[in-house]
Amino acid sequence: PRCMPTSTSIHPILDQAPTTESFRKATLRGFRKDQKQIPSKFLYDDRGSKLFDKICELEEYYPTRTEIGIMRENVSAMAEAIGPAARLVEYGSGSSLKTRILLEQMREDLAAYVPVDISKSHLLESAEALAEDYPAVPIQPVCADYTTSFELPEPPRSARRTVGYYPGSTIGNFPRDQARAFLEQIAHTVGPEGGLLIGVDLKKNVDVMTAAYDDAEGVTAAFSKNLLRRMNRELDATFDLDAFEHQVLWNEERGCVESHLRSTTAQSVTVADESFAFDAGETIHTEDSHKYTLDGFASLAADTGFEVESVWTDDRSYFSVQYCTTRSDSA
Ligand code: TRP
Repeated sequence: PRCMPTSTSIHPILDQAPTTESFRKATLRGFRKDQKQIPSKFLYDDRGSKLFDKICELEEYYPTRTEIGIMRENVSAMAEAIGPAARLVEYGSGSSLKTRILLEQMREDLAAYVPVDISKSHLLESAEALAEDYPAVPIQPVCADYTTSFELPEPPRSARRTVGYYPGSTIGNFPRDQARAFLEQIAHTVGPEGGLLIGVDLKKNVDVMTAAYDDAEGVTAAFSKNLLRRMNRELDATFDLDAFEHQVLWNEERGCVESHLRSTTAQSVTVADESFAFDAGETIHTEDSHKYTLDGFASLAADTGFEVESVWTDDRSYFSVQYCTTRSDSA
C-alpha cells in the first residue's frame, strides 16, 4: 500500500460536524426567549468533553461509577443479549470508557463499532486508542450531532443486526417528548430485531441527585461556564466569566435536575453583534437531567417500538442499564 494506516481496524472518519453557524443560530434563538437557554449539546467542544471526563471521576458524580459497576458485573449477560456479529452504534461516545467493558468482552464477536460524537478531535483520539487496544474490532467513527438526522457508514457485510448503545443517562438530557422522538429515531435506525443498550438514571434522594451536578471542587461549574468561553471565542461574545455562577435545582414537577448559569449582576452582553440584557439573578438554562422510575422508562420505551427485555441495577437502585429490542415486525 502507498500509505500505511496506523491501524487497519480504524476507518476514515465520516465527517458531519456541526458548523459554527448552527451554534450561532441556536444561541440567538435561545437568548431571545423569556427563559434564556442554550441546547446542552454545545457544552461538548474539545475542552468541554475533557471537563466532562473529569466530572465522571468526581466523588459526587455517582452515575458513571455506578453504571461502570453494573456493566462489569453483568457484561456477559449483556453480550449474550446483543448476540454475535452485531454492529454497535454509540450515540455520544466521548472517551468510550464504558464501551471498553463491552469491547473487552465481545472483541471479534462484533461486526463493527461505530462511535458517534459531536467533538471531532475527542472522537479521533478515542477511536485511535480503541483501534490500538482492540485491533479485531473494525471502528467506523462518525462526527455528527446525533440529535439531527445523520448518515451511518455502510455496515460490514458480516453485520447481522444493529444495536444502539446510549450510556450515561444522556436520554435524561431530553424532555420526555423529545426522549420519545429520539428513541423512535434509534428504533428506526436499528430496524426490526435491532437492539438498544441504554443507561438510565433512577429517581432517588434529592440531595444525592443535585450534588452530582454541583461538586465541591467546581469542575461542573467550569464545564458549564465553558459555554460562555465558547461563545466568546466562536461568536465574538463579551461574557465576563466571573459575573456568572453555576446554579443547580431539583424540579419536582418535571422530575429533573436543572443546571443554570446565573448572572450575579444586572449587565448587558453582546453575542454575534446582538445585545442581550441580564437582570441580576437572571439565568441561562443550560441543561436538564431527567430521572426515571423503572416503570416510567418501560412505558416510555413501549411508546417508541422498543420493549425492555432486561434491566440491570446496582444494590441501591441508583442507576439502571437496560436492554431493549424492537419487534421483528417493526418498521
Ligand atoms: N448526561 C449527563 C447527566 O445528565 C451530563 C452531565 C453531567 C451534565 N453533569 C452535567 C450536563 C453538568 C451539564 C452540566 O448526568
